[in-house]
Amino acid sequence: MDRINRICAHPRWKESVEKIRVLEQDRIFCRHDITHFFDVARIAYIENLEKGLGIPKEEIYAAAFLHDIGRHLQYTQGVPHEQASAMEAEGILNDCGFSKEEQNTILNAILQHRTRDMGQAGDLAGLIYRADKASRACLFCDACRECNWSEDKKNLTLTR
Ligand SMILES: [Fe+2]
Ligand SMILES: [Fe+2]
Repeated sequence: MDRINRICAHPRWKESVEKIRVLEQDRIFCRHDITHFFDVARIAYIENLEKGLGIPKEEIYAAAFLHDIGRHLQYTQGVPHEQASAMEAEGILNDCGFSKEEQNTILNAILQHRTRDMGQAGDLAGLIYRADKASRACLFCDACRECNWSEDKKNLTLTR
């Protein structure tokens, strides 16, 4: 997990996490914080093990820890955050020792993490899409009624 520790120590990653924290201070809906990144990483890794998908652990954690990192640019400049996150992630992945091939796989998963068509895919992008959605505990959320997630997307029963 050496390269994941390098991501977490990267100045631009830390700066973006802090910007998101400040911007989401009064947010009543789901936040995009470290807890969310861990939830996505661990849910994805559990499915990876359960289904024997064989996707490398560091690719899963890197995608999970970077997939929402550009969220602050969605709040401040209206940039869709999957695009903003991929832009920020590219330099960070490069600095942290990920090969071009690994970068492409991880960046694709970040770019696709809001694309419903990824729901069934057996690759990293599908894994991150499902873990991202499964990480939200709609059943226990006070803002569930005001949330813009459709009723069929909300996690109102426990499945994993
Ligand atoms: Fe997201
Ligand atoms: Fe997310």
